[in-house]
Amino acid sequence: MLPSTLLSEATDCVTARSLAAVSLHRDLNGIGSKMNSAGCVAINSSATAAGGGGAGLGREIAATITGDGDGDDDTTNRRATAVTGRPAATPETATGIQYKLFVALETLFAVVLIAIDLVKVVGLALVPLLYEIYTIAVPRREKDVRGQLVLITGGGNGLGRAMAHLFAARGAHLVLVDIDLEAAERTCTELKRESGGTTKAWAYRVDVSKYEECRELAVRMERDGCGPVDILINNAGIILFAFVGEASVERENAVMDVNLKSHVWMTRVFLDGMVKRKKGHIVGVSSMSGMYAFPWGVVYSATKFAVSGFMASLTEQLRIQGLSRYVRTTCVNPYYVTTRKEVVEFLQKPRFEALTVDKAAAEIVQGILRQDFVVTVPRLFGVFTRFMLLFPVRVQQFVRDYIMREHELNDKLNR
Ligand SMILES: NC(=O)c1ccc[n+]([C@@H]2O[C@H](COP(=O)([O-])OP(=O)(O)OC[C@H]3O[C@@H](n4cnc5c(N)ncnc54)[C@H](O)[C@@H]3O)[C@@H](O)[C@H]2O)c1
Repeated sequence: MLPSTLLSEATDCVTARSLAAVSLHRDLNGIGSKMNSAGCVAINSSATAAGGGGAGLGREIAATITGDGDGDDDTTNRRATAVTGRPAATPETATGIQYKLFVALETLFAVVLIAIDLVKVVGLALVPLLYEIYTIAVPRREKDVRGQLVLITGGGNGLGRAMAHLFAARGAHLVLVDIDLEAAERTCTELKRESGGTTKAWAYRVDVSKYEECRELAVRMERDGCGPVDILINNAGIILFAFVGEASVERENAVMDVNLKSHVWMTRVFLDGMVKRKKGHIVGVSSMSGMYAFPWGVVYSATKFAVSGFMASLTEQLRIQGLSRYVRTTCVNPYYVTTRKEVVEFLQKPRFEALTVDKAAAEIVQGILRQDFVVTVPRLFGVFTRFMLLFPVRVQQFVRDYIMREHELNDKLNR
């Protein structure tokens, strides 16, 4: 049995330390602590100017993170006194067995809290999980897009063009944005002809990697009476099969600009209208190479990981803003599609055949209309990839070598 005073002091210490941490967390929020994109904590406060941990708040942060007691224990004591009515025992005042008890209780406390949260998560997740499994057998109903306006970047060729045809067949109107105006105009003509003139379609020449041009597009669309955008499909992209440094700096730069920045710029321009109207859907075309490393196109793969990250973060942003019921998001991850000569030429000995443009576009459009958060084409590849990522990198490499046989994909390495 533990002596009751010892137990009480230990509990006070845990309470005090937790309170100090909570209070400090609030203080940090107050002074504008931020997570930057590199995953570092950036704290905009002069209090941290003294070498990030040497004095003041920096010292308190360091003490809280390391738990080494170098922080301001007066603060801890003051907060504990306010709550418990007597000063807290601290690692400095406690010795030997007391200190070990403080640490053990604190750890136990944290473990119990996590266990309670885990039970909550399992309970809450069960229903959506069962529902997702059910939708594999019985797919969700597709939404009706008759009369809606769908904007597709890179809509003149490949997947963009094929998706435009499928949306038009469902009664939607199209805005096709492409740097290749001729291709976009040609697709618009096809859409109008196929629908007997009932489909409205507009073509615009825009370099979607440039923010000013994206903004100007919105002005031009308003002038032309296109109406508000219901579904924005950020599809334009440049495929680059190259190891790092193989392509020119200009080419790598263009790949990064088009494949990532265009998603951010177009979303910036059109999200506001969707939020105001409480209606919209943003689609980001990423790739399977945005789910697992793709050594044959390193920079390309990096941009696709970035797109997947952008879409996942945007989804959460809308959720915490309470907008996710009105503005939906879909991230699309296709496997190889035979849209371009480069893809066909690269896939000399594919272990798994590339998808045809029509098949890929049909699955993507179905996923968008079912309002899935993530659409992987083919679906089974997505399940396989996620499963593979659970294992250590060395195990994943065996899968790459013996199941996917990536080294046989192309004779590039043997040339
Ligand atoms: N083809 C594949 O194997 C494959 C696989 C996975 C993902 N994807 C992705 O699917 C999307 C469509 O690819 P695709 O195969 O249809 O390519 P594609 O080259 O056939 O079509 C891309 C379109 O984007 C346009 N475009 C390029 N730069 C632009 C810019 N700066 N501004 C406006 N438009 C621009 C092009 O003119 C073209 O019409 C891309 O994002 C691509 O990365 C393709």
